[in-house]
Amino acid sequence: MLLAIETSCDETGVALFSEDGKLISHLLYSQVAIHSPFGGIVPEIASRKQLEVLYPLIKELLKQNNIEISQLKAVAATFGPGLIGSLLVGVSLAKAISFALKIPLIAVDHLQAHLLAVFLEKEIEFPFIGLLVSGGHTALFLINSFFEFYVIGHTKDDAAGEAFDKVAKLLGLPYPGGPIISQLAEKGDPKAINLPRPLLEDKSLDFSFSGLKTAVLNYIKNHSYRVEDLCAGFEEAVCDVLVYKTFRAVDLFKVPRVVVAGGVAANKRLRQRFREKAFNTGVEIYFPSLEFCTDNAAMVGLLGYKQWQEKKYADLNTEAYARAVF
Ligand code: KG4
Ligand code: ZN
Repeated sequence: MLLAIETSCDETGVALFSEDGKLISHLLYSQVAIHSPFGGIVPEIASRKQLEVLYPLIKELLKQNNIEISQLKAVAATFGPGLIGSLLVGVSLAKAISFALKIPLIAVDHLQAHLLAVFLEKEIEFPFIGLLVSGGHTALFLINSFFEFYVIGHTKDDAAGEAFDKVAKLLGLPYPGGPIISQLAEKGDPKAINLPRPLLEDKSLDFSFSGLKTAVLNYIKNHSYRVEDLCAGFEEAVCDVLVYKTFRAVDLFKVPRVVVAGGVAANKRLRQRFREKAFNTGVEIYFPSLEFCTDNAAMVGLLGYKQWQEKKYADLNTEAYARAVF
């Protein structure tokens, strides 16, 4: 039995995997309601809440599955990137469990876990192009195996999810911005307000979203508008750039297989736009189901299990890291 822990941000996730690599069960505690009044995540509150919630959540998971802690054979945790205070809660507890039970400790990278979450539901052939679009990161990867990730493009400033969150704040909408903007956009006209498509002409596979946020701010200051149209126009601009760059990577690397992962991959319009483009170009497209797009421990367990099989262990000196290692 492998226990997986996810505490990189404001979500506390725990999962159990069987010794043949099957997800047995997972639980998630979300702090969204606590941070929403602040219009974003307050790191100090997030880490304190992680500390309060994590161990009881593990006990609950074990109880629900009739498992004693002594039956655990390995423990995996997200070591980064993320909020360092939140990460340290999960990493420290994983180290304590590993030390006390004398079982292997496995350090999982949060971004890699997002990109492989789709394997929780289906096996995909390697290599594939992975687009990671979350609140903290937006990057394109060439992925050759469970352990070979090459970054081929990334955002120069804001992440796509961060742009959704910041635009929501400008419009006086609650945190997190993605789901609410997406709901409003469904009732809007994506062509009513034309916003810039940053770096679309640029030959690189990099992204930039902070200019788009500023364009929304300028629009709000100088025009009257229907909020639904503004949300639809913004969402369409983000989708245009993400779809264009990802399929540029497909052409450049001649890899006809795409996985879109991370919180923003839950976006309905984005999924639709990717599906259309994939259909028209004969490219395979995959998304994790909605519960595995946003932060969860099942994806950490999946990669943790693969690392366990390969004996890719960490030790008590392995440190948590706040920034992505690319
Ligand atoms: O992957 P995630 O849960 O956490 C990070 O690792 O960052 O992603 C959270 C981000 C937030 O910025 C949130 O606004 C965005 O994902 N998000 C969405 C949607 N659902 C969540 N963005 C657009 N449309 C959605 N439906
Ligand atoms: Zn995440």
